[in-house]
Amino acid sequence: MLHAPVTPRTIPQGWSGTDLAADSSWRLPLTIAHISELEKALANAKSKVSKYADLTKSDFPLGRSLAGLVDRIRTELTVGRGVVLLSGFPVRRFSEGDLCLCYWGLCIHLGTCVSQDGQAALLAKVEERGIKQATLTRAYGTRRVHALHVDLSDVIGLLCVRQASSNPISSFASAIAVYNEFAFKHPEWLPRLQEGFHWDRYGEQAAWEAPTSSHPIPVFERRDGRFSSRFNRNWIKAAAVRRNSPLTDSENAMLDFFEATAQRYAFTFELAEGDAYFANNLCALHGRAGYEEDTGESLGRGRLLLRSWINLPELRPSPDRSAVHYGLIDYGNLGWTAGELAVGKNLSAGHQRVFCE
Ligand SMILES: [Fe+2]
Repeated sequence: MLHAPVTPRTIPQGWSGTDLAADSSWRLPLTIAHISELEKALANAKSKVSKYADLTKSDFPLGRSLAGLVDRIRTELTVGRGVVLLSGFPVRRFSEGDLCLCYWGLCIHLGTCVSQDGQAALLAKVEERGIKQATLTRAYGTRRVHALHVDLSDVIGLLCVRQASSNPISSFASAIAVYNEFAFKHPEWLPRLQEGFHWDRYGEQAAWEAPTSSHPIPVFERRDGRFSSRFNRNWIKAAAVRRNSPLTDSENAMLDFFEATAQRYAFTFELAEGDAYFANNLCALHGRAGYEEDTGESLGRGRLLLRSWINLPELRPSPDRSAVHYGLIDYGNLGWTAGELAVGKNLSAGHQRVFCE
């Protein structure tokens, strides 16, 4: 149980938007040395594999500068602000295939990359796909607003390949700052939030798996002295409908308060072409505004981001397996490594995972 506010002044992850704006430690511009090493690693990778999913760390060897950068990203995610923004990724220098190799190569050095949708995509393309507004549609294939939320992996990575001319504002928010506001203004709601809510699986589970998480996912939790948070209102709302268990007025009020507080303490920014961010999903929320594109942009040249889901177990408090707190991602075609997908582990009920009910 959480008993007291996490003190923002002593917890780097407990920032406000103003704090983040005044701190450049989490902004990491790529240097000429980084880009030169990227090109060398890419050349080596292309001599070994044709598909990014087949890439191993040794196929994409990092020079000293890039290795230092990856270490720095990991440190910032683990004990720093929980968010990192790279800039100057040379997206126009590479073909889309080479770009996937470069980005994937960096990500596999950072942690364990896993599949992130019902098609077992390892690198998801975040772009408009003409999907009509629907209750149970993953938002990243649409131009609609993405309210502040977390994804299912330990870390989300996004690389901006092309930005829309109407560049939608992106946001980060600290879940610790949100928790502190609850502790000061609505401590009576914390027990319910710590109990958590079921999350919907948006129909992406396997036939033998339940359509919602089998256990409630805590909004706030402290285990082994470490704070963590999980919040995605769309998935909470969808699970309540599917389970025919409507949220009460009080529950909606606390979720409204969470969203309003996250927005109030958010850091907002324009994600530019060649920017790449990483966010620790256990302490930092991300989101963006909705956007429009003109006709030219919509013809296959519109806004495009590459997204990775990366697991970094060192970010987590020790998991309570009985509560399935960290089995969120392990269902259907989600949560598989490239190696597991290559041997078809996702296709067989015989490989059903420990965390699946
Ligand atoms: Fe997301």
